[in-house]
Amino acid sequence: MQKNLGNYRKSYEKNSLTEGAIKENPLEQFQKWFYEVEATEGVDEPNAMTISTIGLDGFPKSRVVLLKKYTHEGFIFYTNYNSEKGKAIAQNPSVCLSFFWPNLERQVIIKGTAEKIAENLSDGYFESRPVGSQLGAVVSNQSEVIGSREVLERELEALEKKYEGKSIERPKHWGGYLIRPISMEFWQGRPNRLHDRIRYTLQEDYDWKIERLAP
Ligand SMILES: Cc1cc2nc3c(=O)[nH]c(=O)nc-3n(C[C@H](O)[C@H](O)[C@H](O)COP(=O)(O)O)c2cc1C
Repeated sequence: MQKNLGNYRKSYEKNSLTEGAIKENPLEQFQKWFYEVEATEGVDEPNAMTISTIGLDGFPKSRVVLLKKYTHEGFIFYTNYNSEKGKAIAQNPSVCLSFFWPNLERQVIIKGTAEKIAENLSDGYFESRPVGSQLGAVVSNQSEVIGSREVLERELEALEKKYEGKSIERPKHWGGYLIRPISMEFWQGRPNRLHDRIRYTLQEDYDWKIERLAP
């Protein structure tokens, strides 16, 4: 079986990224781009990002999660701390996040270190979730092998009965991670493959060094 994809070819022409027009702080640059992506039609989940971790087996693994908050400190998402990614982060907190926003022909790649956020912040976010999502977090031992879907559904049914009319406490193994960036690269597609790439790197004095990279 084979399929040749060599004819998928696109010229990127929508925007540019120049040194004169960027923010000095990459998180502010991220915010500028994020607003622009939100304001442009064509991306269902602009907050979907890929997070790559180095696993206990030594291999990198990437998967999509949802960015739930960004601040001047970094980027927050929620997950199961006992999941494959949770175990990977516990052993090696160096991670990479990436966003691809095809509607504006943009990519952002962030290297950083992940840390658990404060318990009260995870509590606050957990409480804000719909009951179905709360129960889902309780019932699923994320990344464990399970016998069948039915097992999961039966457990969910039992939990629905147990918690009927009661509030659901956040499981201690479920919560947020904050990724503090050490480098952030902004990629803007341009014609003839001469794309713009601007990289911010955190310096020892906490200033950000800004460099242009060859496409
Ligand atoms: C659009 C999308 C959003 C997702 N959001 C999350 C999320 O916010 N948190 C999460 O734990 N998993 C999320 N997932 C599922 C993850 O991709 C992944 O399957 C799960 O976290 C288990 O990964 P792991 O076994 O490598 O730890 C999402 C998947 C998709 C496709």
